[in-house]
Amino acid sequence: MLAILAQADKTFFLPPARSTVAGLHDGLYNFVLWMSVIWLVLIAGLMVYFVIKYRRKSPNDKPVGPTHSTAIELGWTLPPLILVMVIFVWGFRGFLQMNQAPNGAYQVIVSASKWNWAFTYGRGEKDSVLHVPVDTPISLVLTSSDVIHSFYVPEFRIKRDVVPGRYNKTWFQATEIGEYNLFCAEYCGQQHSQMITKVVVESRDDFLAYLEERGKWWEGKSPVEVGQTVWNDNGCKQCHSVEDADGTGPKWNDVFGAERKFADGTTRIADEDYIRDSILNPGKNVVQGFDNVMPTSQGQIKDPEITGVIEYLKSISKNFDGQLLEPFPVTVPAEDGGTPGAQE
Ligand code: CUA
Repeated sequence: MLAILAQADKTFFLPPARSTVAGLHDGLYNFVLWMSVIWLVLIAGLMVYFVIKYRRKSPNDKPVGPTHSTAIELGWTLPPLILVMVIFVWGFRGFLQMNQAPNGAYQVIVSASKWNWAFTYGRGEKDSVLHVPVDTPISLVLTSSDVIHSFYVPEFRIKRDVVPGRYNKTWFQATEIGEYNLFCAEYCGQQHSQMITKVVVESRDDFLAYLEERGKWWEGKSPVEVGQTVWNDNGCKQCHSVEDADGTGPKWNDVFGAERKFADGTTRIADEDYIRDSILNPGKNVVQGFDNVMPTSQGQIKDPEITGVIEYLKSISKNFDGQLLEPFPVTVPAEDGGTPGAQE
């Protein structure tokens, strides 16, 4: 019966099991659950039965029977002891299995920050969605740049705290191609409930193609498009609206070219260098009326992405008087090597 429970794919309480460790966890969960149900029924049933059977039927009734029985005492001590030991050994096996990635597991670095997940693969490829090949052990190294978060994928039955200033580890092996929700399971501030992303489990070939594309994902895209993708994928949008509404951070539209007032009373025109500064050293110029809460993107964002953000901000600012998106006549040098002339 336990073997059947351990292999159960889906229970009344749990989502489908989609990792190699899920069976063991569900088996233990079901064992504890059904043991509790059996004991509850047994104990409560006997209590009710005894209350009725041994009730005082007349005023002359006196208590009867032995006041001590070694056999009964052993009977209610040993079986629970054995059960608790079974649960301990079972749980400890699961604990070891959860903590020891098999040799040769593929490593992904998980960086959490308020309120965003970032995944970094072997050659520096990065994304806000976790892609992994199916039937392959994946080891995760988890760290946070601000507060405690928690990496949680219900279908895989794995949950691990992500703690600033240290590296936690876990691993999993997905058993079925598909998309699964990845939640933050530790209250981490105002937008904790929005800190959700996906795990995409795909075939090995699809995963390799994905890595190839992800390496230089901005190629073939306009800088404005690159910036918009960074805003969407790197978590900028959690705090920075582009629709004229301040959030945890200042809105992004109409920022480029505007004069910014800072908490320390100084001002600065929002040009290209200002925006680069704000991404890499967000604490340097904190805009008046906002808290200094933005994590730095130093080391996590590449130059073409920063350039993209700058161009994106231009494209949504009425203070930028150039033009970005229309086709533009290209200037070519004259044949004789003289001064370049505009195209006719
Ligand atoms: Cu991060 Cu909750």
